[in-house]
Amino acid sequence: MRLGWIRAAALSELSEGAVLGVEVAGRRIALARVQGEVYAIADVCSHRDFPLSVGEVDADACTLTCEWHGAAFDLRTGEPVCPPAVRPVPVFPARIEGGDVMVELP
Ligand code: FES
Repeated sequence: MRLGWIRAAALSELSEGAVLGVEVAGRRIALARVQGEVYAIADVCSHRDFPLSVGEVDADACTLTCEWHGAAFDLRTGEPVCPPAVRPVPVFPARIEGGDVMVELP
């Protein structure tokens, strides 16, 4: 069953360059806002079970860096761009709709 587009947060909760951990339909998701775009990535590092939502956004590279050991993931694809993570993290389509951040879940 496809869940479709679901409201994940108010846009006002997610400032530019920030990351916000939310739970949407039972899934932990990290939302990030970079240069006016919003991104949604599973809120768990693929290196160890650690929340990416406490990490840091690099707006120029459009990546999210894990706070624990420093692996970084491309927010557009979920692919790791630096070690120690080697596996990608799932990403989900995200968009701004009015004052809300919407995420499309499979
Ligand atoms: S838990 Fe994220 S880099 Fe190790």
